[in-house]
Amino acid sequence: MTKTAIVTGAHGAFGKWIARNLWELDWDVFLVCRQKAQCVETVNWIKESAKKSGAGELDYIECDLGSYKDIKAMSTKFVAEGRKLHALVNNAATTPRTRTVTSEGLEAQFAVNIMAYYWLTKFLWPALVSTGTEADPARVVNVASGYAGGLDLTDMQFKRRAYDNNSAYRASKQAERMMTGSFAEKMSECQKGTVWISSCYPAWAPSKLSADLGTPGPDSEASGADTPVWCAVEGSLTNANNFHKTLGGYASKKAMRADEYQQDRKGMETLWKECERVTGLLEKTGRADL
Ligand SMILES: NC(=O)c1ccc[n+]([C@@H]2O[C@H](COP(=O)([O-])OP(=O)(O)OC[C@H]3O[C@@H](n4cnc5c(N)ncnc54)[C@H](OP(=O)(O)O)[C@@H]3O)[C@@H](O)[C@H]2O)c1
Repeated sequence: MTKTAIVTGAHGAFGKWIARNLWELDWDVFLVCRQKAQCVETVNWIKESAKKSGAGELDYIECDLGSYKDIKAMSTKFVAEGRKLHALVNNAATTPRTRTVTSEGLEAQFAVNIMAYYWLTKFLWPALVSTGTEADPARVVNVASGYAGGLDLTDMQFKRRAYDNNSAYRASKQAERMMTGSFAEKMSECQKGTVWISSCYPAWAPSKLSADLGTPGPDSEASGADTPVWCAVEGSLTNANNFHKTLGGYASKKAMRADEYQQDRKGMETLWKECERVTGLLEKTGRADL
């Protein structure tokens, strides 16, 4: 059976390689990009550069991942069409150098790096559940970072503190890793082993994002796809772990680390409640800056 993946940030440095690698493995791949032109450019790049043509489809979905309305609409459509979903790769991220607020009233990194991961996982859950089995679980792969840290749960949107994009970015990556643990605990399908959720540290490579952080790393764009793709396809994965590139090289075996951020039970619960509160506000009023 052909497998299906959704890859967010598919126009980005790592995203295009994640999408390409899955397509080369004969998966159907849906690229999520902000604009149609980026989607088309990436589909063309994958088709022209792939080592081997995939047997699956390469399709795309335009979506602003800073928008609850957009994410809900695209996820609801995908689920209503009765599509299978073997892997959701939450890869998109942003780190604007000055504090930016989305049209729905959220600080941009909080919206794209935290809430979008939460919303896509929640809203696409029915498709993952209808696809995964114990023998072959569906996957959620949260592309996070080893650079994570410093999350202040009392001021996640930098309303009280002065904003700096490095601090907001590191905090958002910590939140992704905590949220991974919360989904694994709260969703019965994770307990049953029919859906697996994990986070990973992909690589440290030049990209728009790492340039905005002022830290373009030495790795290649292509290497950034290795670990996320491994999390999507590997048979021996376990729930709620944080996978790192193998230290000393990008061999196929990944180093698994117990995630220190998933030990903070109280913090994880506070984060989860905040995600629910913001979602409730947006559902009711269309804005979350109230
Ligand atoms: N590069 C590194 O060294 C590094 C290290 C550790 C972890 N990571 C993680 O790896 C992932 C990929 O990063 P990258 O380095 O490949 O960055 P990138 O090249 O800047 O790609 C990020 C992608 O996310 C998309 N995106 C941002 N905001 C969006 C929005 N509102 N709606 C739709 N798409 C949006 C961007 O699209 P636009 O171009 O339209 O903004 C872009 O395609 C991220 O989760 C990052 O945290 C990267």
